[in-house]
Amino acid sequence: ASAPIAKEEEGEEEIMSILPRVRGLWPEHLYQHQGFWYAGKYLHSVMATQTHFIAHSSDILLATNPKCGTTWLKSLIFAICNRKLMHPSTQHPLLTLNSHQLVPFLELHYIDNQIPNLDILPSPRLFATHMPYSSIPQSVLDSGCPIIYMCRNPKDTFVSMWHFVNKLSIKESTMPSTLEEAFEMFCNGASNAGPFWDHVLEYWRASLDRPHCVMFLKYEEMQAETTVHVKRLAEFIRCPFSLEEEKEGVVDEIIRLCSFENLSSLDVNKTGDAVFGKFEVKFHTYFRKGKVGDWSNYLTPDMIERLDRISEHKFHGYDLTL
Ligand code: A3P
Repeated sequence: ASAPIAKEEEGEEEIMSILPRVRGLWPEHLYQHQGFWYAGKYLHSVMATQTHFIAHSSDILLATNPKCGTTWLKSLIFAICNRKLMHPSTQHPLLTLNSHQLVPFLELHYIDNQIPNLDILPSPRLFATHMPYSSIPQSVLDSGCPIIYMCRNPKDTFVSMWHFVNKLSIKESTMPSTLEEAFEMFCNGASNAGPFWDHVLEYWRASLDRPHCVMFLKYEEMQAETTVHVKRLAEFIRCPFSLEEEKEGVVDEIIRLCSFENLSSLDVNKTGDAVFGKFEVKFHTYFRKGKVGDWSNYLTPDMIERLDRISEHKFHGYDLTL
């Protein structure tokens, strides 16, 4: 979608060699940058994004911790922004492309030392990111563009992540071999874009400080009251649904199009794949159960208590529960 205009000097290995490194809940080593953990190649693209990305005030940035509903949020925002394509006789792009292709991660534009020309993308430019709020390029904050953050309860996030990493094409020896080992890593913050709780808290605080620029959503609330939140999303990105659109059922159509049941049953999402960064990802791995509370099938009472205690401790003093 974007033409590369330059390639940066190689420097990945030198940078990685000086950063703290751990085995984490990911199929390869994680490196620490500005207090958060990232896979090596991805981190290099995060750094390039921080240096080179110039935001426009019309951009829309979707931020998540992995496995918190990124695929769903990308689909919804794409469908809201492109709702003229909902007409029944047109082939909606979401029927033939995965939402990760339609709304790419900002940092993946910069993978492999590329410095892309993102100015050629149509407005509004839709980007997603796993970067924590404190690492987002200053130009994004200065632009005042809307940032939408979706979080999810840590128990379902962990369970979802455990299943996801086990389905990835690359499995290095550093990858946790049991759910118990993966759990320990997640609790210690060593997951991709972790610590999970710090990531959530940063966006929560930003949503309180800059409510017109940062919207904070919970996956569980989105599931419980999808219509309310889809309308809120459209208002937040400054393209609210008109009364006519509501009467014509556009909101319901978007919700149906983006539902787990619909997207996961499409050919593209059953059999398609793409290379994101270092990994070839089969699109069906983004669709597992799409339910709230599946953690109860995987976590022991001790694990549940541990995650609850961490959340209480981390969010103490903030009006935030997950
Ligand atoms: P589960 O593994 O609990 O099923 P991400 O998109 O951030 O990688 O998150 C993946 C999680 O979101 C998975 O959770 C996946 O099933 C769920 N998901 C994907 N598409 C969804 C949709 N359209 N509606 C609701 N949940 C969805």
